[in-house]
Amino acid sequence: MDVGNARVRLVLGAWAGKRVVVAGGAGFIGTHLARALIMAGAEVALVDNLSTGRADRTPAPLTVADIAGLERLPLPTAEIVFNLACPASPRAYQADPVQTWRTSVMGTWTLAHLALAEGARIVQASTSEVYGDPLVHPQTEDYAGNVALTGPRACYDEGKRAAEVLLYDLAQTRGLDIRVARIFNTYGPGMAQGDGRALPAFFEAARAGQPLRLEGGGGQTRSFCHVDDLVRGLMALALCEPARGVPVNLGNPDERTIREAAETVVRLTASASPLVEVAAAVNDPRRRCPDITRARSLLGWEPQVGFEVGLRSMLADSD
Ligand SMILES: NC(=O)c1ccc[n+]([C@@H]2O[C@H](COP(=O)([O-])OP(=O)(O)OC[C@H]3O[C@@H](n4cnc5c(N)ncnc54)[C@H](O)[C@@H]3O)[C@@H](O)[C@H]2O)c1
Repeated sequence: MDVGNARVRLVLGAWAGKRVVVAGGAGFIGTHLARALIMAGAEVALVDNLSTGRADRTPAPLTVADIAGLERLPLPTAEIVFNLACPASPRAYQADPVQTWRTSVMGTWTLAHLALAEGARIVQASTSEVYGDPLVHPQTEDYAGNVALTGPRACYDEGKRAAEVLLYDLAQTRGLDIRVARIFNTYGPGMAQGDGRALPAFFEAARAGQPLRLEGGGGQTRSFCHVDDLVRGLMALALCEPARGVPVNLGNPDERTIREAAETVVRLTASASPLVEVAAAVNDPRRRCPDITRARSLLGWEPQVGFEVGLRSMLADSD
């Protein structure tokens, strides 16, 4: 992992000997985070129900369990609990929307109470989806969002919103020590094949010589953050005292259209695949771009991996 900015580099030294639980630790981001924590000297234990994660690449001991039914943390006297447990791809979270809701809300409830009992801090992986289809650009943390309460994305978007509310209320009423990361689209090696998210889907299609499908024409934008940058941000946020109790956007403000992303993948893979326009997904956000002023000032964090460099890191990833 590229350790990046100077203030973030200083924080890395503070992980030595820390006892850390990563819920969702067998997933895409969880696996990268666990590796980075171990490299920084932390003692790490993972919990995951393997619904979208993989047990064969986890870098730390794994307890296979659903977080909503967890009776104890997998690491006694844990100091920090990262809650990344929740399917992130629309295909996965829409396959069982009730389970997605249960994971977000009851899972966060359970982990938060276990953290309270242990006196541990909880770092919540929230999402830019709390802004829905935003009417304000770029999105600051103060923007209340434009979220559909019905429809196929609601289980995820509203589940993540409810989880945030629960954490703020537990912080206020019970003194729970919380950090909340609002994560924007993250990519990199290790994303699950076939999970339907745009970049891995483009790579799969380009490699197979199949058409790259541009839902809604591909004019919608996303701001893609490389997983190495995100992991640095999560680790800095977890140890940042002034960030206690306030949401912090973590994302790359480099906004691009989905069409541009597809064209770049075709070029990097030297593929002959065509781009085809298909119907838009329901409630698909048209624009997405983080305002990261708060992350810059509180964490000294800045994304460093450029889009093409980041995409090249996925090129070799056929696992
Ligand atoms: N990747 C992104 O672009 C992105 C953007 C915003 C927010 N996030 C959030 O970051 C977190 C990690 O995302 P990811 O991309 O690694 O997704 P992922 O699907 O690869 O990983 C999620 C992990 O959680 C596990 N899980 C799901 N439900 C569980 C449950 N009830 N109990 C225990 N484990 C459970 C899965 O098996 C998987 O290993 C998620 O909470 C997601 O909402 C991700």
